[in-house]
Amino acid sequence: MAGSRDAAREIDTSRPHSARVYDYFIGGKNHFEADREAARDVLAVLPTGNIGPRENRAFLGRAVRYLTAEAGIRQFLDIGTGLPTTNNVHEVAQGIAPSSRIVYVDNDPLVLVHARALLTSAPEGRTAYIEEDLRNPEAILSHPATREVLDFTRPVALIVAGVLHFVVDAEEPARIVATLVDALPPGSYLVASHITPEHSPKGTAAAQKSFRNAGIPVQPRESDEFARLAFSGLDLVPPGVVLVSEWRPGHAGPRPTPAEVGCYGGVARTA
Ligand SMILES: C[S@@+](CC[C@H](N)C(=O)[O-])C[C@H]1O[C@@H](n2cnc3c(N)ncnc32)[C@H](O)[C@@H]1O
Repeated sequence: MAGSRDAAREIDTSRPHSARVYDYFIGGKNHFEADREAARDVLAVLPTGNIGPRENRAFLGRAVRYLTAEAGIRQFLDIGTGLPTTNNVHEVAQGIAPSSRIVYVDNDPLVLVHARALLTSAPEGRTAYIEEDLRNPEAILSHPATREVLDFTRPVALIVAGVLHFVVDAEEPARIVATLVDALPPGSYLVASHITPEHSPKGTAAAQKSFRNAGIPVQPRESDEFARLAFSGLDLVPPGVVLVSEWRPGHAGPRPTPAEVGCYGGVARTA
């Protein structure tokens, strides 16, 4: 793992990065002018564009809570972690089971700079951070930190929340998911969420174009395509693949419309 001074040198703040644009959308503080400009361009064409990211973040928290409290999971491999914010995976999991162990993975060097916040494990558990790319699953799986922190003879929850849409078809996302899921021991879980165009096709296409113009390729996928990509051969936990706002919502109050959310998610168990 590079030192944070090395990482700081690699951070290009003149160009937007998906982690920092997402951080802007969810109300975080770790973004630069180029990221804010890209986010504002998206909001200009999709004014409700920050609702989906916030709903996605809340879904992730509920999924980790479910896995820890109800499914008994104590190990997490979170790829596409994002910048530290509220409800980081280790905070949710260790809040319920302090012995939980988490490996975080992201390809944005800025996340490494903030890794200390991700590494404040409860003394009973462990956390580690790897700067690596989802498109290189073998490197993630064989990384010494992954092998040291996670015990692959016991169930692991793999999390790819809000990240698969950054892997375009030409980069073989199905192969990437299969490589990662095949490495999980029986009784493991997969948490995934993904931008969909189906409830707001024009807004999503315009937002996709804004992201592309900012140098961030995004490929929204229809819910059935996402379900096939992420969950083929796995046992979906009820309610299945649904809008992230509809996945075991913690309250009965009003929720945003499908067009505002624009993001599907699900949790599934491996055989
Ligand atoms: C939309 S954020 C999602 C953050 C968090 N998983 C969540 O759901 O709240 C996407 C994250 O994925 C990271 N990311 C994008 N492409 C990636 C890749 N190819 N490999 C690893 N991380 C990636 C970005 O840096 C960013 O932090």
